[in-house]
Amino acid sequence: MTLRLPAFTPAQESLFLTLGGRALDSRLPRPFLGDTTADELLTTIGYDLTKFPTISSTRVDPRAKVFEIAVRAKRLDEVVRRFVLRHPDAVVLDLGAGLDSRVFRVRPPRTVRWYDVDFPEVIALRSQVLPNPANVHSIGADVVEPNWIDQVPNDRPAVIVADGLGAFLTRHDFADLLNRLISHFPSGELVFNSYTTYAIWLLKHSHAMTAIASDVVNPGFNDPHDPERWVDGLELVDEMFLARAPEVAGLPRAWRLASRLAGRTSATSRMIGTVVLRYRF
Ligand SMILES: C[S@@+](CC[C@H](N)C(=O)[O-])C[C@H]1O[C@@H](n2cnc3c(N)ncnc32)[C@H](O)[C@@H]1O
Repeated sequence: MTLRLPAFTPAQESLFLTLGGRALDSRLPRPFLGDTTADELLTTIGYDLTKFPTISSTRVDPRAKVFEIAVRAKRLDEVVRRFVLRHPDAVVLDLGAGLDSRVFRVRPPRTVRWYDVDFPEVIALRSQVLPNPANVHSIGADVVEPNWIDQVPNDRPAVIVADGLGAFLTRHDFADLLNRLISHFPSGELVFNSYTTYAIWLLKHSHAMTAIASDVVNPGFNDPHDPERWVDGLELVDEMFLARAPEVAGLPRAWRLASRLAGRTSATSRMIGTVVLRYRF
């Protein structure tokens, strides 16, 4: 089956880059993440990945193509899973959820209230192709708008996850959003993949990212403490470098060596690979 897709903006279209990365990962003999739902979704939708040469190129080893997308999703899942284990009454907010099936990977207890938030066009597609268990809610909204958060209970601890969202929000909107969310909940954790200034430069200038580059508006940041200065009550707990991830062992030799070399210092780890940041509030 091939679904008729609406005309997505470049930011919305980017959901197929991450969905495609997870789908291709699941086809590896030894996947990093192993999300077969992503592959089923891609087939159901019949999306053509050639818009994203980073993952569709046949010249790069498939393990290297999917590593960053699959392993960062895995790190984010782990944070969410640990949080809901400690707080079975938690709220989970997946901001810019796209077509990610994170809730089916994490499998939180039924007492957790899970909210997937993305633009209405994306949520409409999501509800066509993904089941909605009773404790899982979808909110179709621009996350920058202030009112959607009123739909989310404010008396439970929350874990807020944003996988691939940050590049599409201005720094002002990103800080505003975080300030609003953090004052909504009594306590919780925030986890997201960060974009360094160099990563943003690459997103905007790489031929492989032409499909989404025009909506990349965030300048990026290199110091993981910066968000503590923008958002009241945020405290950095963990900076996770994928260049140092144990999954590096599953990369082809040249990539493995490059990651291990880069992993020797924080500065080069940030430069070469994805960084996942975890904060508490
Ligand atoms: C790179 S995709 C990642 C999607 C998903 N998290 C994943 O890992 O597959 C970025 C997502 O952020 C969403 N997004 C970007 N800006 C947004 C905004 N202002 N409000 C709501 N969603 C937004 C896009 O629609 C897209 O689904």
